[in-house]
Amino acid sequence: MSGLFLEVLGGTKNTPPPIWMMRQAGRYLPEYRTTRAKAGSFLGLCGSPELAAEVTLQPIRRFDFDAAIIFSDILVVVMALGHPVRFDEGPKLDPLTKVETLESNPQKWATRLAAVYEALALARRDLDPGKALLGFAGAPWTLATYLAGGGNDEQKGAKLWAYRDPESFGRLIALLSDCVARHLIGQLKAGADAVQIFDSWAANLSPVLFDRWVVTPTAEIVRTVRAEIPGAKIIGFPRGAGLAGLEHYAQTTKVNAVSLDTAVPMDWAVDTLGKALTLQGNLDPLALVAGGAALRDGVAAILKAARNTPFIFNLGHGILPMTPLEHVGELVKLVRSAA
Ligand code: CP3
Repeated sequence: MSGLFLEVLGGTKNTPPPIWMMRQAGRYLPEYRTTRAKAGSFLGLCGSPELAAEVTLQPIRRFDFDAAIIFSDILVVVMALGHPVRFDEGPKLDPLTKVETLESNPQKWATRLAAVYEALALARRDLDPGKALLGFAGAPWTLATYLAGGGNDEQKGAKLWAYRDPESFGRLIALLSDCVARHLIGQLKAGADAVQIFDSWAANLSPVLFDRWVVTPTAEIVRTVRAEIPGAKIIGFPRGAGLAGLEHYAQTTKVNAVSLDTAVPMDWAVDTLGKALTLQGNLDPLALVAGGAALRDGVAAILKAARNTPFIFNLGHGILPMTPLEHVGELVKLVRSAA
């Protein structure tokens, strides 16, 4: 599979850049809300390959983005490990107390994750060959954060576990890393052209915790995936890592691209990271909600900073449900008219 997105992810620069948006298949789209109602629930939608493939393609049909991301959730890996997850205005999990209660048999994980692989095959069948199809997974640290009580309050649960009992926390991270690597490999084998690793709770970590629980496991996952699928294309998104954190992450994990959150200055990223890998991001999702001058100026500044580097246009975090559809259409026009 070729196409602009994969060329740029491979290190080619292009004006205009390819564009897609994190959470592009979601509630801001009326057709998503209709299909979700048909599925009955968010998890019902994730578990139905036909409906998941359908919502994966909806944003491509409406906005002609350069990449589709498979409709699923980072917490399907937690469910594959046998830990119950409910969605009720966001994910609800009972805190995990013992790593040993989690399922450790990879065959069981694969069976529980089969709907994702089936959805990828269906989406790939119906997607224009010039568009990329992305798989994804949550990073071990972010999944551990949800398992240890959630991400608010400075990731208190996960940090205290990591400080008080690094040995059992290390076993949790190792199990999550194994499941995440296999899930990424499964998605690439099922039809994904590239994968993104979401580390949504990577902010506010001490450099020691960041290195040990974000960078080291991610580097290990990248190695494992590429040992099975040589040349596998991988994007990393350590949200809120900070500039020193991003530099360390980019150098050590060997991802093909880093996705930049809104706080990262594009000029800094181009100068410091841009020679070694592709950059992605970083428009403020609220500038897209606001539209008008905020949107035009935000897009222009990013395009100007990134014009001499391999770059994929995206938001700094997921698109918000309140985003007006016309603003998304305008964004695509602004980016595609870049010269
Ligand atoms: O379009 C896409 O990007 C593909 C699908 C996708 C979803 N979640 C669908 C979803 C992807 C890539 C994710 C990743 C995800 N899930 C992350 C990492 C990205 C990030 O935002 O930091 C995280 C942290 C999760 C966990 C999660 N799932 C949360 C925190 C929530 C609730 C927040 C919210 O926006 O409501 C979800 C639910 C969820 N995942 C929805 C969607 C479309 C909304 C559910 C609904 O339809 O009611």
